[in-house]
Amino acid sequence: MVLNIKEPIEESFQIIGGNFTQAGEASTRLKHALFELGVDEKIIRRITIATFEAEMNVIIYAAAGRLHYYITPDSITVKIDDMGPGIENIELAMQEGYSTAPDWVRELGWGAGMGLPNMKKNADIFKIDSVVGEGTTVEMVINFP
Ligand SMILES: Nc1ncnc2c1ncn2[C@@H]1O[C@H](COP(=O)(O)OP(=O)(O)O)[C@@H](O)[C@H]1O
Ligand SMILES: [Mg+2]
Repeated sequence: MVLNIKEPIEESFQIIGGNFTQAGEASTRLKHALFELGVDEKIIRRITIATFEAEMNVIIYAAAGRLHYYITPDSITVKIDDMGPGIENIELAMQEGYSTAPDWVRELGWGAGMGLPNMKKNADIFKIDSVVGEGTTVEMVINFP
């Protein structure tokens, strides 16, 4: 599928750490944009799951962050970067079920340790970079097949 757009479409959202009432706002806006563009529903689901998990991680772990998406006729790139504690051991953080979420976050239903693995599973290209004490950047590309 190739999207019939003349120019790339991009947008940025601020994400505030700890603001659970805003949870999912950026990924929901992106989901609606993709529906309007007529993107295949299965692809929208993959993009939305991956984006939502990344957005939640900023809300849960970081002070603040930003979500940026860039849509071309044949793919979408979503980049989420934050100012936060960073991740000491990325390999460990990527393992299914690994979570450092505090109890109060678990009580809200988060902290299953599946966010990063699900981002990787749903993205065609998944990159994560982190500097302890500075922040984390996740970049995902999903192709429109
Ligand atoms: N943006 C981030 N900033 C700091 N730590 C993070 C970030 N994203 C993930 N982590 C770390 O990686 C772990 C695993 O993340 P994830 O797979 O999304 O599971 P969960 O959020 O349920 O713990 C988190 O518990 C946390 O320790
Ligand atoms: Mg998570």
